[in-house]
Amino acid sequence: MKVTFIAADGTVTEVEVDEGQSLMQAAVSHDVDGIIGECGGSMMCATCHCYVDEAWAERVGAQQDGESDLLDCAVSEVRPGSRLSCQIRMTAELDGVVIHLPEAQL
Ligand code: FES
Repeated sequence: MKVTFIAADGTVTEVEVDEGQSLMQAAVSHDVDGIIGECGGSMMCATCHCYVDEAWAERVGAQQDGESDLLDCAVSEVRPGSRLSCQIRMTAELDGVVIHLPEAQL
């Protein structure tokens, strides 16, 4: 399955992702600039902040409990599509999902 990450400067990176893998893990394991994932996915850092493309927002779904509290600590502006990428797990339904990356995570 495929995920497309689009950096704040417009750089497009496509990566292969296994089912069940989080989008944070996918980005980090492929050295995608713009996602750090400092806490390893335990919802303690907000350095995996991303913006789900509007066309995919419904399929990806809403923020999980506690995400918005943590996103308040994110360095880049929180927008309607803001999610913690460690909380988005890859499924067949999300094949081809487009994720935009914030300008900064730290
Ligand atoms: S990796 Fe730390 S909150 Fe997502």
